[in-house]
Amino acid sequence: MPSSIGLAILGPGNVGSGVVAALRNGVARYGAQVGRPLEIRRALVRDVTRARDGLDASIVTSNFEDILADPDVQIVVELMGAEHPAREYIEAALASGRHVVTANKEVMAKAGSELLAIAAKHNVRLLYEASVGGGIPVISPLSRDLLANDITAVTAIINGTTNYMLTGMAQSGTDYDVALAEAQRLGYAEPDPTADVEGIDASYKLAILCGLAFHVAVAPDEVARQGITKLGAKDFRYAEALGYTIKLLATGRLVDGGVVASVQPTLIAKDEPLAKVDGVLNAVQIEGDLVGRVLFQGRGAGANPTSSSVLADVLDIARDIVGERRPPEAIEYRKLPVHPPAMHSSRYYMRVTVSDQPSVLARIAGILGEREISIASCIQFETDDSAGTAELVITTHHATGAALDAALAEIRALDVVVEVGNVLAMAG
Ligand code: NAP
Ligand code: HSE
Repeated sequence: MPSSIGLAILGPGNVGSGVVAALRNGVARYGAQVGRPLEIRRALVRDVTRARDGLDASIVTSNFEDILADPDVQIVVELMGAEHPAREYIEAALASGRHVVTANKEVMAKAGSELLAIAAKHNVRLLYEASVGGGIPVISPLSRDLLANDITAVTAIINGTTNYMLTGMAQSGTDYDVALAEAQRLGYAEPDPTADVEGIDASYKLAILCGLAFHVAVAPDEVARQGITKLGAKDFRYAEALGYTIKLLATGRLVDGGVVASVQPTLIAKDEPLAKVDGVLNAVQIEGDLVGRVLFQGRGAGANPTSSSVLADVLDIARDIVGERRPPEAIEYRKLPVHPPAMHSSRYYMRVTVSDQPSVLARIAGILGEREISIASCIQFETDDSAGTAELVITTHHATGAALDAALAEIRALDVVVEVGNVLAMAG
């Protein structure tokens, strides 16, 4: 039996170097917790010429086969990111009898169920706490602590970059472009921010959460997705006047024998707990039949918070190895449909620029009424006397996406409608 638990770090980048530093700083503590020291035996990078803090050059390689060839590597920690070749490396590591810990939401969202089945087949573990919510424990609570519940809803703010931008827009009245430039200046947003601002990153994380919460396989492209790029300072002013703020909400619910999953900018009443989750913070709210509503909140990104989750998984596996206990983690999925966006029901906020003349509101109300969409409130916020236009903000009671789309097509076609601005879901 080896005298230590051997680790391989695939990708000592931002998160990976945090894991290396935490392992070095906590060497005695982790050794005592596991009953055997943890030892980094190998690290995989693209560029072997660069010195890596805390890693001797002799263990750094750019050849994945070197990892598999080391019989003392028992846990492979995948922190490279992107789908390929991370997915193939995880699969090869599992098939070779290694346990795997990953922070890779894209791989787990797209191929999690297959990889978990491979892990079960080889009687090894695949853990992925860091893939959703960075340092917030949420995968483990869903897999273990909340298992006795019938989970009915998951509502989450799971992208720190967009939450930082939306908080800035709400608090400072800035427009989207200014908020994005500020997030990029501070290093929260990537030079290409598409994955964050279009909700792609959040859709991966929501797909993972839905699989665990509802035991239904939800593919990322089955998550209805709306980004934040069209939001303007006006939307925040109007939301504020109505008593709401706007968040990029990732929502999964069991409805009519299926799953409804969406990532979209959503108006939330200001007294709701999620409305107060500001800046780069993330939060995941889960509703179960026994536990009621629970809210997990914390730092969803960054080297240290994410290392906390990665190392929790490493320690869990290391303790199992020492105790020779290796339960498989495969999920048994139920065969339920994932409903298309047209079947989603929500309350809505819409901002419409119209000609400032009589009976315009009646025509819009008529179209909504024909589609059985009931108006909850209507406020005329701004008039532009020189252009002869006014801005209407209409909120509705619950309606389906299909009814709303049909009504919007007719409203847009009205000669008195200059523009249908943002149409946003409202929580509740
Ligand atoms: P990163 O800073 O870009 O680091 C990636 C590392 O992987 C680098 O060391 C890179 O090597 C290595 N790498 C990439 N492709 C490789 C390849 N084909 N072969 C060998 N090595 C390769 O990424 P990160 O921000 O640490 O993110 C890592 C993972 O954690 C991602 O899945 C991400 O979604 C997830 N995550 C990140 C955060 C966060 O706060 N950053 C939070 C939660 C989850 P070189 O150094 O040689 O380029
Ligand atoms: N880009 C992600 C975010 C990083 O902004 O939350 C963590 O997954």
